Amino acid sequence: MQQEGKSPAMTQIIAIANQKGGVGKTTTTVNLGAALAERGFRTLLVDLDPQAALSYGVGLQSDNLQRTVYDLLINPELNGADMVHSVGRRLDVLPANIDLAAAEIELITAFSRESILKDVLAPLAPHYNFVLIDCGPNLGLLTINALTAADAVLIPVQCEFLALRALDALQRTVKRVQARLNPRLRIIGILPTMYQTGTRHAEDVLAQV
Ligand SMILES: Nc1ncnc2c1ncn2[C@@H]1O[C@H](COP(=O)(O)OP(=O)(O)OP(=O)(O)O)[C@@H](O)[C@H]1O
Ligand SMILES: [Mg+2]
Repeated sequence: MQQEGKSPAMTQIIAIANQKGGVGKTTTTVNLGAALAERGFRTLLVDLDPQAALSYGVGLQSDNLQRTVYDLLINPELNGADMVHSVGRRLDVLPANIDLAAAEIELITAFSRESILKDVLAPLAPHYNFVLIDCGPNLGLLTINALTAADAVLIPVQCEFLALRALDALQRTVKRVQARLNPRLRIIGILPTMYQTGTRHAEDVLAQV
């Protein structure tokens, strides 16, 4: 757990979400996290995708880990700090591995199943200035948990036509979460990624976004 850096008077929890695959969610999470840590902010990255690209991206061989975010979600009474790994100065990770794929089903019958992540992050979050949650490419229960735990959602969008359809569905989901589970959730930004300069198509999509 981080002791270094700015004192976390207030924690911002940001979900990085878009149900469309390969739009740059994980890349955005890792780079934003590294930049915040560099600027002096204590930052926790949470890998909420069973593909575990974030965990591997920061150098954790998460398949070999005894305990990951999955164990914490299934047994919320465990100590989350035991699963947090330091991966850099002021930068920690709560990793995932393929075990997490089972959580989507196992949590269906859990009590208050949409707010389990919020509950397990509650004792960890005060140690950080920022908690960034990397979501998988779907709008399933794990992503709903991320949106319920978060103060804000950041939406990376690839500059291509189908991106706009995905954005519609995501905005509807955000509205439903705001209405029923987390009224303080706000969209802090739509982040165009993989913008190819000089193509008419990318310019059109960017204008519509
Ligand atoms: N801004 C960018 N410019 C160019 N390539 C990028 C950019 N962001 C990400 N990429 C590349 O695009 C691919 C997909 O990125 P990434 O894994 O971050 O997307 P994702 O939304 O997390 O995917 P998934 O939905 O599978 O989790 C990767 O190969 C990554 O290196
Ligand atoms: Mg990803």
